[in-house]
Amino acid sequence: MTPARNEPAVTLRRLLPEPAELTADEAMNQWRPWESAPPGRPSMALNMVHTTDGRAVLQGKSGGLSSVADRQLFHAMRTRVDAVMIGAGTARVERYGRIVPDPARREQRSAVGLQADPLAVIVSGSLNVPSDLPLLQDPDSRVVIVTSSASSLADVRAEVEYLRFEPVDLPAALSQLRDAHGVRSILCEGGPRLNASLLTGGLVDELFLSTAPLLAGDAGERSIVEGAHLREPYRVALRWLLEHEGALFARYGIGQQ
Ligand SMILES: NC(=O)c1ccc[n+]([C@@H]2O[C@H](COP(=O)([O-])OP(=O)(O)OC[C@H]3O[C@@H](n4cnc5c(N)ncnc54)[C@H](OP(=O)(O)O)[C@@H]3O)[C@@H](O)[C@H]2O)c1
Repeated sequence: MTPARNEPAVTLRRLLPEPAELTADEAMNQWRPWESAPPGRPSMALNMVHTTDGRAVLQGKSGGLSSVADRQLFHAMRTRVDAVMIGAGTARVERYGRIVPDPARREQRSAVGLQADPLAVIVSGSLNVPSDLPLLQDPDSRVVIVTSSASSLADVRAEVEYLRFEPVDLPAALSQLRDAHGVRSILCEGGPRLNASLLTGGLVDELFLSTAPLLAGDAGERSIVEGAHLREPYRVALRWLLEHEGALFARYGIGQQ
């Protein structure tokens, strides 16, 4: 098993379905989302973290919510998908770099038949994405930007392609990612407004939700989904629940139960 870089693998307690102790890699190695893509689009899993009182942002970022176990699950998830998607708001504040920087994790990907580096997908209607984002300056990264802008980013070193729609059409973008880029599974890492767009489009199959043992009160902002106008609440089905040092890690199915 490969722990996150420079950190010993933590042991999580599985509370559901059947009790067990396992590492983040052992938990995620059972996850093969590329095998369950629905017709016409890749499978889509959201991965988000929030506080016990439901705040997804502290002082403008999500970093303060994360823990060693959360990070190890996060990196293990990235070894199991064809593409990682983020919204422009997240790209603007979280300073994304190469999605899988650890060579051992790229080897794990190759060992299950995935490309060593996942495709990175950024959704930005306006193309307001900083060119100096480390991801866009990384010559080993492949990035698709879904946008309604006719412009292109200058001075980027990554391999960047554009899927242009006026306005942005997420179902069509996913279908193109499937057909033209061979993407069978996507891990969406937020943020809240992109999550809302995907959920209202019926485009999400699973949610990985970490609950940090924190109450943020007014120090916290946003929830994991913002701006979703759902006719009625979506029912989700709990598939597993893990625990480490008071943090909970739930996996939910959405739509199909
Ligand atoms: N707790 C967590 O797990 C977590 C995870 C990720 C992010 N976050 C936090 O969330 C905050 C950012 O939230 P956010 O909601 O502003 O960010 P976001 O969802 O990452 O990005 C929103 C932007 O994405 C683009 N977008 C999303 N859906 C679109 C659609 N259907 N059509 C066209 N463009 C679309 C738009 O970009 P343009 O404006 O360029 O048109 C929109 O402004 C940050 O503070 C970040 O730290 C938390």
